[in-house]
Amino acid sequence: MAEFDATSGRRVLVTGGAGYIGSHTCLELLQAGHHVTVLDNLCNSSLESLKRVESLAGRSLTFMQGDIRDFELLRRVLVGPNNECPAFDAVVHFAGLKAVGESVSQPLAYFDNNLSGTVCLLRAMTEAGVKTLVFSSSATVYGDPASVPISEDFPRSATNPYGRSKLVIEDMLADLYRSDPAWRIARLRYFNPVGAHVSGLIGEDPSGAPNNLMPYVSQVAIGRREYLQVFGGDYPTPDGTGVRDYIHVADLASGHLAAIRALWQADSQTGCLLTVNLGTGVGVSVLDLVKAFERASGRPVPYRIVARRAGDVAACYANPVLAQTLLGWRTQRNLADMCADAWRWQSRNPHGYRQAAATGGA
Ligand code: NAD
Ligand code: WQD
Repeated sequence: MAEFDATSGRRVLVTGGAGYIGSHTCLELLQAGHHVTVLDNLCNSSLESLKRVESLAGRSLTFMQGDIRDFELLRRVLVGPNNECPAFDAVVHFAGLKAVGESVSQPLAYFDNNLSGTVCLLRAMTEAGVKTLVFSSSATVYGDPASVPISEDFPRSATNPYGRSKLVIEDMLADLYRSDPAWRIARLRYFNPVGAHVSGLIGEDPSGAPNNLMPYVSQVAIGRREYLQVFGGDYPTPDGTGVRDYIHVADLASGHLAAIRALWQADSQTGCLLTVNLGTGVGVSVLDLVKAFERASGRPVPYRIVARRAGDVAACYANPVLAQTLLGWRTQRNLADMCADAWRWQSRNPHGYRQAAATGGA
Protein backbone atom coordinates (compact mmCIF):
# COMPACT_ATOMS: atom_id res chain seq x y z
CA MET A 1 0.00 0.00 0.00
CA ALA A 2 1.23 3.51 -0.78
CA GLU A 3 2.78 5.21 2.22
CA PHE A 4 2.33 8.68 0.76
CA ASP A 5 0.03 10.40 -1.62
CA ALA A 6 2.77 10.55 -4.23
CA THR A 7 0.88 12.85 -6.53
CA SER A 8 1.90 16.16 -4.97
CA GLY A 9 3.18 18.10 -2.00
CA ARG A 10 6.25 16.00 -1.17
CA ARG A 11 9.59 17.60 -0.22
CA VAL A 12 12.45 16.72 -2.55
CA LEU A 13 16.12 17.64 -2.24
CA VAL A 14 17.85 17.79 -5.63
CA THR A 15 21.65 17.75 -5.62
CA GLY A 16 23.11 19.22 -8.80
CA GLY A 17 19.67 20.63 -9.63
CA ALA A 18 21.04 23.70 -11.47
CA GLY A 19 22.66 21.48 -14.12
CA TYR A 20 21.35 20.21 -17.43
CA ILE A 21 19.27 17.20 -16.37
CA GLY A 22 18.66 18.55 -12.86
CA SER A 23 17.02 21.78 -14.07
CA HIS A 24 14.59 19.88 -16.32
CA THR A 25 13.78 17.51 -13.46
CA CYS A 26 13.21 20.40 -11.01
CA LEU A 27 10.69 21.81 -13.47
CA GLU A 28 8.85 18.45 -13.62
CA LEU A 29 8.86 18.19 -9.83
CA LEU A 30 7.47 21.72 -9.40
CA GLN A 31 4.84 21.13 -12.05
CA ALA A 32 3.80 17.97 -10.21
CA GLY A 33 3.25 20.07 -7.07
CA HIS A 34 6.30 19.00 -5.06
CA HIS A 35 8.45 21.30 -2.90
CA VAL A 36 11.95 21.47 -4.32
CA THR A 37 15.23 22.39 -2.65
CA VAL A 38 18.35 22.47 -4.83
CA LEU A 39 21.84 22.02 -3.42
CA ASP A 40 24.48 22.85 -6.03
CA ASN A 41 27.98 24.33 -5.88
CA LEU A 42 27.50 25.78 -9.42
CA CYS A 43 30.85 24.32 -10.57
CA ASN A 44 29.26 23.46 -13.94
CA SER A 45 26.05 25.48 -13.99
CA SER A 46 24.51 28.86 -13.39
CA LEU A 47 21.70 30.13 -11.20
CA GLU A 48 20.05 31.50 -14.32
CA SER A 49 18.79 27.97 -15.15
CA LEU A 50 16.82 27.85 -11.90
CA LYS A 51 15.41 31.36 -12.35
CA ARG A 52 14.03 30.16 -15.67
CA VAL A 53 12.71 26.95 -14.12
CA GLU A 54 10.79 29.06 -11.60
CA SER A 55 9.36 31.28 -14.29
CA LEU A 56 8.27 28.27 -16.39
CA ALA A 57 6.70 26.56 -13.38
CA GLY A 58 5.14 29.72 -11.96
CA ARG A 59 6.37 28.53 -8.57
CA SER A 60 9.54 29.04 -6.60
CA LEU A 61 12.08 26.59 -5.26
CA THR A 62 14.69 26.89 -2.54
CA PHE A 63 18.31 27.19 -3.66
CA MET A 64 21.33 26.53 -1.47
CA GLN A 65 24.81 26.99 -2.85
CA GLY A 66 26.95 24.28 -1.34
CA ASP A 67 29.03 21.20 -1.93
CA ILE A 68 27.88 17.63 -1.38
CA ARG A 69 31.24 16.95 0.28
CA ASP A 70 30.28 19.33 3.11
CA PHE A 71 28.83 16.84 5.61
CA GLU A 72 27.75 19.40 8.23
CA LEU A 73 25.87 21.41 5.63
CA LEU A 74 24.12 18.30 4.29
CA ARG A 75 23.19 17.14 7.78
CA ARG A 76 21.70 20.55 8.61
CA VAL A 77 19.75 20.65 5.34
CA LEU A 78 18.42 17.12 5.71
CA VAL A 79 17.28 17.43 9.33
CA GLY A 80 15.75 20.87 8.68
CA PRO A 81 16.03 24.15 10.56
CA ASN A 82 14.00 22.95 13.56
CA ASN A 83 15.50 19.48 13.66
CA GLU A 84 12.22 18.14 12.28
CA CYS A 85 14.18 15.16 11.00
CA PRO A 86 13.63 14.09 8.28
CA ALA A 87 13.03 17.32 6.40
CA PHE A 88 12.72 15.58 3.00
CA ASP A 89 10.74 12.73 1.50
CA ALA A 90 13.37 11.95 -1.14
CA VAL A 91 16.71 12.99 -2.59
CA VAL A 92 17.42 13.06 -6.32
CA HIS A 93 21.19 12.95 -6.66
CA PHE A 94 22.59 14.50 -9.86
CA ALA A 95 25.64 16.29 -8.44
CA GLY A 96 28.85 15.03 -9.98
CA LEU A 97 31.52 15.62 -12.58
CA LYS A 98 30.77 14.01 -15.94
CA ALA A 99 33.49 14.66 -18.55
CA VAL A 100 34.99 11.32 -19.55
CA GLY A 101 38.26 12.74 -20.98
CA GLU A 102 38.83 14.98 -17.97
CA SER A 103 38.29 11.99 -15.68
CA VAL A 104 41.18 10.22 -17.39
CA SER A 105 43.55 13.14 -16.78
CA GLN A 106 42.21 13.98 -13.29
CA PRO A 107 40.98 10.69 -11.77
CA LEU A 108 41.34 11.88 -8.17
CA ALA A 109 39.10 14.88 -8.80
CA TYR A 110 36.43 12.47 -10.03
CA PHE A 111 36.83 10.04 -7.13
CA ASP A 112 36.78 12.90 -4.65
CA ASN A 113 33.77 14.68 -6.10
CA ASN A 114 31.66 11.74 -7.22
CA LEU A 115 32.62 9.03 -4.71
CA SER A 116 33.48 11.02 -1.56
CA GLY A 117 30.58 13.38 -2.30
CA THR A 118 28.13 10.50 -2.55
CA VAL A 119 29.44 8.83 0.63
CA CYS A 120 29.00 12.15 2.42
CA LEU A 121 25.44 12.52 1.13
CA LEU A 122 24.53 8.95 2.10
CA ARG A 123 25.93 9.41 5.62
CA ALA A 124 23.93 12.59 6.10
CA MET A 125 20.78 10.92 4.71
CA THR A 126 21.27 7.99 7.10
CA GLU A 127 21.65 10.33 10.06
CA ALA A 128 18.55 12.31 9.09
CA GLY A 129 16.49 9.20 8.34
CA VAL A 130 15.93 10.17 4.69
CA LYS A 131 16.19 6.81 2.93
CA THR A 132 14.60 7.39 -0.47
CA LEU A 133 17.10 8.11 -3.23
CA VAL A 134 17.15 8.42 -7.00
CA PHE A 135 20.68 8.19 -8.39
CA SER A 136 21.99 9.28 -11.81
CA SER A 137 23.85 6.29 -13.16
CA SER A 138 24.79 5.90 -16.79
CA ALA A 139 24.87 3.48 -19.70
CA THR A 140 28.63 3.89 -19.38
CA VAL A 141 28.48 1.09 -16.76
CA TYR A 142 27.90 -1.38 -19.63
CA GLY A 143 31.38 -0.64 -21.03
CA ASP A 144 31.68 -2.19 -24.49
CA PRO A 145 28.51 -4.32 -24.63
CA ALA A 146 28.67 -7.76 -26.26
CA SER A 147 25.38 -7.09 -28.06
CA VAL A 148 22.53 -4.58 -28.38
CA PRO A 149 19.91 -3.78 -27.17
CA ILE A 150 21.32 -3.71 -23.65
CA SER A 151 19.29 -5.10 -20.75
CA GLU A 152 19.90 -4.26 -17.10
CA ASP A 153 21.36 -7.72 -16.36
CA PHE A 154 24.21 -7.29 -18.87
CA PRO A 155 27.73 -7.44 -17.38
CA ARG A 156 29.13 -4.11 -16.19
CA SER A 157 32.63 -2.73 -16.59
CA ALA A 158 34.42 0.58 -16.39
CA THR A 159 36.61 1.93 -19.19
CA ASN A 160 37.53 5.25 -17.51
CA PRO A 161 37.51 6.86 -14.03
CA TYR A 162 34.15 8.57 -14.64
CA GLY A 163 32.57 5.22 -15.49
CA ARG A 164 34.29 3.63 -12.51
CA SER A 165 32.78 6.25 -10.21
CA LYS A 166 29.27 5.32 -11.44
CA LEU A 167 29.99 1.62 -11.12
CA VAL A 168 31.32 1.93 -7.58
CA ILE A 169 28.39 4.13 -6.49
CA GLU A 170 25.95 1.57 -7.91
CA ASP A 171 27.68 -1.08 -5.78
CA MET A 172 27.74 1.17 -2.70
CA LEU A 173 23.99 1.65 -3.03
CA ALA A 174 23.41 -2.10 -3.30
CA ASP A 175 25.52 -2.67 -0.16
CA LEU A 176 23.60 0.04 1.66
CA TYR A 177 20.26 -1.52 0.74
CA ARG A 178 21.49 -4.95 1.88
CA SER A 179 22.57 -3.45 5.21
CA ASP A 180 19.23 -1.72 5.82
CA PRO A 181 16.14 -2.66 3.78
CA ALA A 182 14.39 0.53 4.84
CA TRP A 183 16.24 2.17 1.93
CA ARG A 184 14.31 2.74 -1.27
CA ILE A 185 16.76 3.36 -4.07
CA ALA A 186 16.51 3.77 -7.84
CA ARG A 187 19.66 3.49 -9.92
CA LEU A 188 18.73 5.06 -13.27
CA ARG A 189 21.04 4.28 -16.17
CA TYR A 190 20.68 7.12 -18.66
CA PHE A 191 21.61 6.56 -22.27
CA ASN A 192 22.45 9.77 -24.25
CA PRO A 193 20.45 12.74 -22.94
CA VAL A 194 19.92 15.50 -25.53
CA GLY A 195 17.51 18.30 -26.40
CA ALA A 196 16.01 21.02 -24.29
CA HIS A 197 12.71 22.19 -22.84
CA VAL A 198 10.23 22.96 -25.62
CA SER A 199 10.11 26.63 -24.51
CA GLY A 200 13.76 27.13 -25.49
CA LEU A 201 14.37 28.64 -22.05
CA ILE A 202 16.41 25.86 -20.44
CA GLY A 203 18.88 23.52 -22.08
CA GLU A 204 22.42 22.16 -22.13
CA ASP A 205 25.10 24.80 -21.58
CA PRO A 206 28.54 23.23 -21.95
CA SER A 207 31.53 25.41 -21.07
CA GLY A 208 34.21 25.42 -23.77
CA ALA A 209 34.13 23.09 -26.75
CA PRO A 210 31.39 20.48 -26.28
CA ASN A 211 32.49 16.87 -25.78
CA ASN A 212 29.15 15.46 -26.82
CA LEU A 213 27.62 15.17 -30.26
CA MET A 214 24.34 17.11 -30.04
CA PRO A 215 25.73 20.35 -28.55
CA TYR A 216 28.60 20.20 -31.03
CA VAL A 217 26.20 19.81 -33.96
CA SER A 218 24.11 22.71 -32.61
CA GLN A 219 27.16 24.96 -32.45
CA VAL A 220 28.13 24.06 -36.02
CA ALA A 221 24.59 24.85 -37.22
CA ILE A 222 24.61 28.27 -35.49
CA GLY A 223 28.06 29.06 -36.97
CA ARG A 224 30.12 28.98 -33.75
CA ARG A 225 32.15 26.07 -35.15
CA GLU A 226 33.16 25.40 -38.74
CA TYR A 227 32.40 21.69 -39.07
CA LEU A 228 31.71 18.53 -37.12
CA GLN A 229 34.35 15.86 -36.86
CA VAL A 230 32.62 12.49 -37.16
CA PHE A 231 34.69 10.11 -35.08
CA GLY A 232 34.95 6.99 -37.22
CA GLY A 233 33.23 5.95 -40.44
CA ASP A 234 34.26 2.30 -40.35
CA TYR A 235 32.24 0.87 -37.45
CA PRO A 236 30.20 -2.31 -38.08
CA THR A 237 26.98 -0.24 -38.18
CA PRO A 238 24.60 0.45 -41.11
CA ASP A 239 26.40 3.65 -42.22
CA GLY A 240 29.76 3.06 -40.50
CA THR A 241 29.27 5.74 -37.82
CA GLY A 242 28.64 5.19 -34.11
CA VAL A 243 25.12 4.30 -33.01
CA ARG A 244 23.58 5.59 -29.75
CA ASP A 245 20.28 5.83 -27.92
CA TYR A 246 19.51 9.57 -27.73
CA ILE A 247 16.83 10.40 -25.18
CA HIS A 248 15.04 13.75 -24.89
CA VAL A 249 15.94 15.42 -21.59
CA ALA A 250 12.26 16.12 -20.88
CA ASP A 251 11.51 12.38 -21.18
CA LEU A 252 14.45 11.72 -18.87
CA ALA A 253 13.03 14.22 -16.36
CA SER A 254 9.64 12.51 -16.41
CA GLY A 255 11.46 9.19 -15.86
CA HIS A 256 12.71 10.60 -12.55
CA LEU A 257 9.17 11.47 -11.49
CA ALA A 258 8.08 7.95 -12.36
CA ALA A 259 10.99 6.51 -10.35
CA ILE A 260 10.24 8.61 -7.26
CA ARG A 261 6.59 7.61 -7.39
CA ALA A 262 7.61 3.94 -7.61
CA LEU A 263 9.88 4.37 -4.58
CA TRP A 264 7.22 6.14 -2.53
CA GLN A 265 4.83 3.32 -3.34
CA ALA A 266 7.29 0.63 -2.25
CA ASP A 267 6.90 -0.92 1.18
CA SER A 268 8.93 1.10 3.70
CA GLN A 269 9.78 -2.04 5.73
CA THR A 270 11.25 -4.10 2.91
CA GLY A 271 12.33 -1.11 0.79
CA CYS A 272 13.54 -1.64 -2.74
CA LEU A 273 16.50 -1.35 -5.05
CA LEU A 274 15.49 -0.61 -8.65
CA THR A 275 17.97 -0.61 -11.50
CA VAL A 276 16.50 0.70 -14.71
CA ASN A 277 17.63 1.78 -18.16
CA LEU A 278 16.25 5.13 -19.29
CA GLY A 279 16.46 5.10 -23.08
CA THR A 280 14.25 4.91 -26.14
CA GLY A 281 15.43 1.54 -27.45
CA VAL A 282 16.14 3.18 -30.83
CA GLY A 283 19.68 3.20 -32.26
CA VAL A 284 20.61 6.40 -34.13
CA SER A 285 23.88 6.89 -36.03
CA VAL A 286 25.95 10.08 -36.05
CA LEU A 287 24.92 10.73 -39.65
CA ASP A 288 21.22 10.07 -38.85
CA LEU A 289 21.46 12.74 -36.17
CA VAL A 290 23.25 15.20 -38.45
CA LYS A 291 20.54 14.80 -41.13
CA ALA A 292 17.71 15.13 -38.60
CA PHE A 293 19.34 18.28 -37.20
CA GLU A 294 19.67 19.82 -40.66
CA ARG A 295 15.96 19.18 -41.26
CA ALA A 296 14.95 20.64 -37.88
CA SER A 297 17.13 23.74 -38.14
CA GLY A 298 17.06 24.41 -41.87
CA ARG A 299 20.84 24.93 -41.57
CA PRO A 300 23.65 22.87 -43.09
CA VAL A 301 25.87 20.89 -40.73
CA PRO A 302 29.17 20.35 -42.57
CA TYR A 303 31.16 17.37 -41.35
CA ARG A 304 34.36 15.44 -42.01
CA ILE A 305 34.85 11.80 -41.14
CA VAL A 306 38.02 11.44 -39.05
CA ALA A 307 39.64 8.69 -37.00
CA ARG A 308 37.71 6.90 -34.27
CA ARG A 309 37.77 8.54 -30.81
CA ALA A 310 39.62 6.43 -28.23
CA GLY A 311 37.26 4.58 -25.91
CA ASP A 312 34.16 4.83 -28.15
CA VAL A 313 32.02 1.77 -28.79
CA ALA A 314 30.30 0.95 -32.09
CA ALA A 315 26.73 0.71 -30.82
CA CYS A 316 24.96 1.30 -27.53
CA TYR A 317 21.19 1.34 -27.12
CA ALA A 318 18.79 0.25 -24.44
CA ASN A 319 16.26 -2.45 -23.99
CA PRO A 320 13.72 -0.06 -22.38
CA VAL A 321 11.12 -2.68 -21.36
CA LEU A 322 11.95 -2.87 -17.65
CA ALA A 323 11.28 0.86 -17.19
CA GLN A 324 7.87 0.37 -18.77
CA THR A 325 7.13 -2.57 -16.47
CA LEU A 326 8.50 -1.21 -13.19
CA LEU A 327 7.89 2.53 -13.58
CA GLY A 328 5.03 2.65 -16.08
CA TRP A 329 7.20 5.06 -18.05
CA ARG A 330 8.23 5.26 -21.68
CA THR A 331 9.66 8.01 -23.86
CA GLN A 332 7.25 10.28 -25.75
CA ARG A 333 9.57 12.29 -27.98
CA ASN A 334 11.41 11.26 -31.16
CA LEU A 335 14.65 12.34 -32.82
CA ALA A 336 12.92 15.18 -34.73
CA ASP A 337 11.61 16.58 -31.40
CA MET A 338 15.08 16.30 -29.83
CA CYS A 339 16.68 18.22 -32.71
CA ALA A 340 13.91 20.85 -32.94
CA ASP A 341 14.13 21.55 -29.19
CA ALA A 342 17.94 21.57 -29.15
CA TRP A 343 17.89 24.03 -32.05
CA ARG A 344 15.31 26.31 -30.40
CA TRP A 345 17.47 26.44 -27.25
CA GLN A 346 20.67 27.01 -29.25
CA SER A 347 19.26 29.71 -31.53
CA ARG A 348 17.59 31.64 -28.70
CA ASN A 349 20.62 31.34 -26.40
CA PRO A 350 23.64 31.28 -28.71
CA HIS A 351 25.99 31.66 -25.73
CA GLY A 352 23.96 29.64 -23.26
CA TYR A 353 23.08 31.20 -19.91
CA ARG A 354 26.20 33.38 -19.77
CA GLN A 355 24.94 36.10 -22.07
CA ALA A 356 21.59 36.28 -20.26
CA ALA A 357 23.31 36.47 -16.87
CA ALA A 358 25.52 39.32 -18.16
CA THR A 359 22.69 41.30 -19.71
CA GLY A 360 20.00 40.38 -17.19
CA GLY A 361 17.64 38.72 -19.67
CA ALA A 362 17.11 35.78 -22.07
P1 NAD B 1 25.69 18.91 -15.19
O1 NAD B 1 27.15 19.11 -15.05
O2 NAD B 1 24.93 19.84 -16.08
O3 NAD B 1 24.99 18.91 -13.76
C1 NAD B 1 25.67 18.47 -12.59
C2 NAD B 1 25.44 19.52 -11.53
O4 NAD B 1 26.09 19.10 -10.33
C3 NAD B 1 26.02 20.88 -11.90
O5 NAD B 1 25.04 21.88 -11.67
C4 NAD B 1 27.22 21.06 -10.95
O6 NAD B 1 27.43 22.41 -10.63
C5 NAD B 1 26.77 20.22 -9.76
N1 NAD B 1 27.86 19.67 -8.95
C6 NAD B 1 28.94 18.97 -9.36
N2 NAD B 1 29.70 18.62 -8.30
C7 NAD B 1 29.08 19.09 -7.19
C8 NAD B 1 29.35 19.04 -5.81
N3 NAD B 1 30.46 18.45 -5.34
N4 NAD B 1 28.49 19.61 -4.94
C9 NAD B 1 27.37 20.24 -5.41
N5 NAD B 1 27.06 20.32 -6.70
C10 NAD B 1 27.90 19.75 -7.60
O7 NAD B 1 25.47 17.40 -15.65
P2 NAD B 1 24.16 16.65 -16.17
O8 NAD B 1 24.34 16.32 -17.58
O9 NAD B 1 22.96 17.37 -15.73
O10 NAD B 1 24.33 15.28 -15.35
C11 NAD B 1 23.69 15.06 -14.12
C12 NAD B 1 24.06 13.68 -13.61
O11 NAD B 1 23.69 12.70 -14.59
C13 NAD B 1 25.56 13.50 -13.37
O12 NAD B 1 25.73 12.72 -12.21
C14 NAD B 1 26.03 12.75 -14.60
O13 NAD B 1 27.14 11.95 -14.33
C15 NAD B 1 24.81 11.89 -14.91
N6 NAD B 1 24.72 11.49 -16.31
C16 NAD B 1 24.79 12.45 -17.29
C17 NAD B 1 24.73 12.07 -18.61
C18 NAD B 1 24.85 13.08 -19.72
O14 NAD B 1 25.22 12.71 -20.83
N7 NAD B 1 24.54 14.35 -19.48
C19 NAD B 1 24.59 10.70 -18.94
C20 NAD B 1 24.51 9.77 -17.92
C21 NAD B 1 24.58 10.17 -16.59
C1 WQD C 1 27.95 10.11 -29.39
C2 WQD C 1 28.44 9.64 -30.75
C3 WQD C 1 30.84 9.70 -30.97
C4 WQD C 1 31.22 14.07 -30.76
C5 WQD C 1 29.03 10.10 -23.47
C6 WQD C 1 29.67 9.48 -22.26
C7 WQD C 1 28.66 8.64 -21.52
C8 WQD C 1 27.41 9.45 -21.19
C9 WQD C 1 26.87 10.14 -22.39
C10 WQD C 1 27.59 10.34 -18.97
C11 WQD C 1 29.67 8.74 -30.67
C12 WQD C 1 30.18 10.67 -31.93
C13 WQD C 1 30.71 12.77 -30.79
C14 WQD C 1 31.80 14.60 -31.95
C15 WQD C 1 31.31 12.54 -33.09
N1 WQD C 1 27.68 10.47 -20.23
N2 WQD C 1 30.76 12.02 -31.92
N3 WQD C 1 31.81 13.80 -33.05
O1 WQD C 1 30.33 8.99 -26.08
O2 WQD C 1 28.06 7.98 -26.47
O3 WQD C 1 28.55 9.07 -24.32
O4 WQD C 1 27.91 10.90 -23.04
O5 WQD C 1 27.35 9.36 -18.34
O6 WQD C 1 29.30 8.19 -20.37
O7 WQD C 1 30.75 8.68 -22.70
O8 WQD C 1 28.27 10.47 -26.31
O9 WQD C 1 27.71 12.53 -27.50
O10 WQD C 1 30.13 12.08 -26.91
O11 WQD C 1 29.04 10.70 -28.68
O12 WQD C 1 31.35 11.88 -34.10
O13 WQD C 1 32.28 15.75 -31.97
O14 WQD C 1 28.85 10.79 -31.51
O15 WQD C 1 31.94 9.08 -31.56
O16 WQD C 1 29.55 7.80 -31.71
P1 WQD C 1 28.89 9.04 -25.86
P2 WQD C 1 28.81 11.55 -27.32
